[in-house]
Amino acid sequence: MTTDDHGFATEQVHGGVVPDAAHGARVPAIHMSSGFVFDDFDQARDRFAGTDDGYTYTRLGNPTNADVERRVALLERGVEAILVGSGQAAATVAFLGLLGAGDHVVSARSIYEGMRGLLLQNLGRLGIEVDFVADARDLDAWAAAVRPNTRAFFGETIPNPKNDVLDITGVAETAHRAGVPLIVDNTLATPYPVRPVEHGADIVVHSASKFLSGHGAGLGGVVVDGGTFDWSAAPERWAHLTRPERSLDGASYVERYGNRGFTVFARDVVAARIGPAPSPFNAFLLRQGIETLSLRVERHCANALAVASWLEQQPEVTSVDHAGLASSPFHDLAQRYLPRGAGSVFAFTLAGGEAAARTFIDSVQLFSRMTHLGDVRSLILHPATTTHAGRTREERAEQGIGDGLIRLSVGIEDVADLLGDLGRGFAALRRGRAHGREARGASGSQPLSPGHRVALAHAGPQDRAIAAER
Ligand SMILES: Cc1ncc(COP(=O)(O)O)c(C=O)c1O
Repeated sequence: MTTDDHGFATEQVHGGVVPDAAHGARVPAIHMSSGFVFDDFDQARDRFAGTDDGYTYTRLGNPTNADVERRVALLERGVEAILVGSGQAAATVAFLGLLGAGDHVVSARSIYEGMRGLLLQNLGRLGIEVDFVADARDLDAWAAAVRPNTRAFFGETIPNPKNDVLDITGVAETAHRAGVPLIVDNTLATPYPVRPVEHGADIVVHSASKFLSGHGAGLGGVVVDGGTFDWSAAPERWAHLTRPERSLDGASYVERYGNRGFTVFARDVVAARIGPAPSPFNAFLLRQGIETLSLRVERHCANALAVASWLEQQPEVTSVDHAGLASSPFHDLAQRYLPRGAGSVFAFTLAGGEAAARTFIDSVQLFSRMTHLGDVRSLILHPATTTHAGRTREERAEQGIGDGLIRLSVGIEDVADLLGDLGRGFAALRRGRAHGREARGASGSQPLSPGHRVALAHAGPQDRAIAAER
């Protein structure tokens, strides 16, 4: 399927499909097979030599996994994608496809904590260094962090929990001036709102466990190579991609595979050896999810903006970190990169600190208390005591993650029901305050009725204020 004559919704359904010649199945089969039979002696030899591109063993490639790779590569406008078992695995494959001992990465500080740990505690032990840029908007800070051994820039399109959108083009241009590629984690945006490659990023990684799947039923990760970075401009920096390889008859990866050189190395040398192969069943689940991606993301974004706007009007809320709001310092970047919506993962802060966050989180019924994102279900979490508990209070404060901050991943439910559920949290806070004043008979304990919830979805500011008084 070509890329120039179809829209996103069509591509997410049809992209990369290879018709089932054997049976005509409309939905491609799930190839739950560890290995693949060789017709004869010569075919086995040719597959190992790479002169026959059929399958050998699922760790090295599988038709179901390949279907998903083609589709994600198309949606992200990359030249090729590698499907792996999780988002962490995707980043690991991307980093190890580029970096070796003695190399250095410049990363936004706002990245997912698991990724920070990967860089510091895993790659750090292998001799790969990292510096974090505190204010990712400050392009001079990115440039100042560059060293002679810097080999990659890294950031997330929509970091969580602060929804502090990345200036992809600005950071990419800074990376390119330093002669290194920009890797962007596009998990929280997905290619429907933004394709980082079209804004200058060179490699895109995903936790496909999140919005790409949507169902929350299985993990996955993807590395997408934009095919844009010129590895031969400074060949000594990328010796593993540009030096002659015996296995390639003396050619280098770049000579043999051109702008696919990085992906072939990352697939054949990194992923195949480390072995984070996804189950073909999980690949199938992921493909099912991708087929409704744009519909879900539209709904996620609309719901999230409605919830964020409503939260901004609640007296207990001191701030809402959602770049879709005019009040956000990242609103301009959201308008530039994410006109279809700034995602549905964002935070708000309650004035009452951790005690208020506990009361609030323990009061909701529809939102699931979970450390997961991008599910069709709405999720709620307290970063200071969970995802960011490993940071000191001062470090969290520097990042604007206070004790009263609550993270939401807004799902695709009816927004009136979501507001009603969050209303339970505010009602519990108000009840607590009333008890504190020994004011008996406070009426804030009632959850919103179904009628109220529907009304609230269409409410103006005055109506919302009345609801907030309940
Ligand atoms: C932005 C981002 N990237 C990567 C990951 C890791 O993904 P996985 O859990 O699939 O390994 C996460 C997990 O929450 C994430 O939020």
